[in-house]
Amino acid sequence: MTWKPGQPVRLETERFLLRTLNRLQIVRYTYEWSFDPEVMNPFGLEAGIWSRRKWYRRFKKADNRRRFYFGIWPKVSDKPIGMEVVDVDSRRVATLSIVIGDRRWWGKGVVQETRRAVIAFIFEQLQCPRVWGMPTARNFPSIFNYQKLGFTCEGILRQHGIDPATRQRCDIIVYSMLRDEWLEKNRREAAA
Ligand SMILES: CC(C)(COP(=O)(O)OP(=O)(O)OC[C@H]1O[C@@H](n2cnc3c(N)ncnc32)[C@H](O)[C@@H]1OP(=O)(O)O)[C@@H](O)C(=O)NCCC(=O)NCCS
Repeated sequence: MTWKPGQPVRLETERFLLRTLNRLQIVRYTYEWSFDPEVMNPFGLEAGIWSRRKWYRRFKKADNRRRFYFGIWPKVSDKPIGMEVVDVDSRRVATLSIVIGDRRWWGKGVVQETRRAVIAFIFEQLQCPRVWGMPTARNFPSIFNYQKLGFTCEGILRQHGIDPATRQRCDIIVYSMLRDEWLEKNRREAAA
């Protein structure tokens, strides 16, 4: 794939197409998710408090250079069901987050399938040496996904977060993967 910074990105997996969204598209496709506490709270955001304008403002960094919002389209649908977010900092460390806003798609292996393509893009196209994610300690589906993809648990940031639903402090778990580990994992899987 030849991709240049700033250009839209398109990735494909067996069941899904991932396409980067601009701010207007993000609002068009994801605004309705902002009303669902089960979708928003694990993200650290309150549900039902967002006007369209405020929601739009959140995504001003969607530039396909440092910040990528990948809409996830099932090949059988014309509407995205979720979004993979990649944020690359000045040290070329990429932070991951994901939301499956259409809850009918929870429990269907979407993250396992789409995240592999996103991680390959991060390591192969963006040439980042490290990717990481920080789920809250009670976000069991998210923790499961990091572990199953072979991320290393680096530790726990104790009481680092605040649960928007309960306003209680919560622990955050740090998961990471290095580029060399990813390449080695792929080599082993290909050889098996
Ligand atoms: C996080 C999210 C994308 C995961 O979706 P998913 O991959 O479809 O998750 P699943 O429902 O398949 O759960 C994954 C696994 O976690 C485990 N799990 C789920 N809920 C669990 C619970 N309450 N307790 C223990 N384990 C649980 C299960 O093992 C499950 O896999 P299995 O049932 O196939 O064995 C989705 O839940 C979501 O969009 N949540 C809101 C936003 C969010 O939390 N984003 C991540 C923060 S960055």
